[in-house]
Amino acid sequence: MRLLQLFWGFLLVAGVCSALVSTPSSSSSLGAEVRAEFPVLAQEIAPGKPLIYLDSGATSQKPQCVLDALHEYYVRDNANVHRGAHTLATRATEAFEEARGKVARFVGGEAREIVWTRGATEAVNLVAHGWGDAHLEEGDEIVLTVAEHHANLVPWQLLASRKRLRLKYARLDAAQGAIDADHLASLVTRRTRVVAMVHVSNVLGSEAPVAEAVRVARERGAPDCVVLLDACQSVPHKGVDVRDLGVDFLVASGHKMCGPTGIGFLWGKYDRLEAMQPWQGGGEMIDRVTLDGTTYAAPPARFEAGTPAIAQAVALGTACDFLSGVGMDRIAAYERRLARRLDAGLRAVPGVRVYGPSADDRDVALVAFNARNVHASDLAFFLDQEGVATRAGHHCCQPLHHALDADAGTVRASLALYNTPDEIDAFLAHLRGVLDFFADLPTPADPKPAFHAA
Ligand SMILES: Cc1ncc(COP(=O)(O)O)c(C=O)c1O
Repeated sequence: MRLLQLFWGFLLVAGVCSALVSTPSSSSSLGAEVRAEFPVLAQEIAPGKPLIYLDSGATSQKPQCVLDALHEYYVRDNANVHRGAHTLATRATEAFEEARGKVARFVGGEAREIVWTRGATEAVNLVAHGWGDAHLEEGDEIVLTVAEHHANLVPWQLLASRKRLRLKYARLDAAQGAIDADHLASLVTRRTRVVAMVHVSNVLGSEAPVAEAVRVARERGAPDCVVLLDACQSVPHKGVDVRDLGVDFLVASGHKMCGPTGIGFLWGKYDRLEAMQPWQGGGEMIDRVTLDGTTYAAPPARFEAGTPAIAQAVALGTACDFLSGVGMDRIAAYERRLARRLDAGLRAVPGVRVYGPSADDRDVALVAFNARNVHASDLAFFLDQEGVATRAGHHCCQPLHHALDADAGTVRASLALYNTPDEIDAFLAHLRGVLDFFADLPTPADPKPAFHAA
């Protein structure tokens, strides 16, 4: 039976994704090659308006093999994990734990170092509670950056108010469109117990100075200072290796890396996980329970109370197979080309202001921008009328938008491996069209009569 199951699993991943794994090593046509794997992309938003999906920073689209993995799990293996003695329970448990191993390998860790969470947000909250509440004391410091997503900011603010801690924020180097590494280093002292930062900013598209942060945390921080990396916007787009990065914790969301919603993970060095207290109590996270008290399971089970998102975890494992099959180096090289084309194209549109690094320094195809005289929400609305899906707002980064003097928000175009250069060109043409439309409207500064008096 096990052999049959392995055979089906092999057919599933190998069959649907085989064309991709065997593609030539060139990255020039990747988007065109993989598009057929993403059924949602083959639609028109209105007659004659094909979908141009530029909102992968919010959530990525899912390849057919991930959709099949979800379906197959429910039609063939569905059972609860770690508790049944029957065949389905064994199969479900094996698939669930196999997926943990796949995610671990995808980021260069070990299976026992992966804790399933609902997403990156829950993973940061887990560390803030499990590590922060257990180890930090009044007067301790946490160093963050002004570029943090609220998911890597508010949990630390909550911890700080629970424990009377001091939060410090590394500022932006405006010229570089990235975090100021020197300023970040200058904030770390012997009282610094946590340094937490976003790997690739979901607004600027720039990379944090991780190596520098890890070095100063080890040299100048408290002896047990931990470094947490929010890898939501890096893991789907380039190879990430937790050992090379040298961090203590890394968080990511499955739905941004071609996996389903409702699943994400915390990777932690095992000794760090062992030193964390449980956050949520319930079934599965215990060793022994009596009416007088409870002892807890070893990590990762200690942090996985209750029935987990089993199908989603299994499908996230398939998403890792899919991305690895395409090749993270190939994806990174392809998306770098998209990034530079997108950035340069936007900068060439009159009246457009681009935030973040220059085109030459862009590695991730995610660009936030504004246009003179047009509100970000209006732009996104009119782009949608042309079939272009972008995102407008503060992208859960209000402090960063304040630092950028863009409190009213920005429009963000964020791409993934399935986008093509042609889509970028079509988007830019639509953007020019929308801006031309607005330029013809009367403005308070340049009033054109809205009505002709009779
Ligand atoms: C950089 C970054 N961190 C954290 C998150 C939060 O992810 P989730 O809502 O999946 O928990 C996001 C999502 O947009 C993000 O872009």
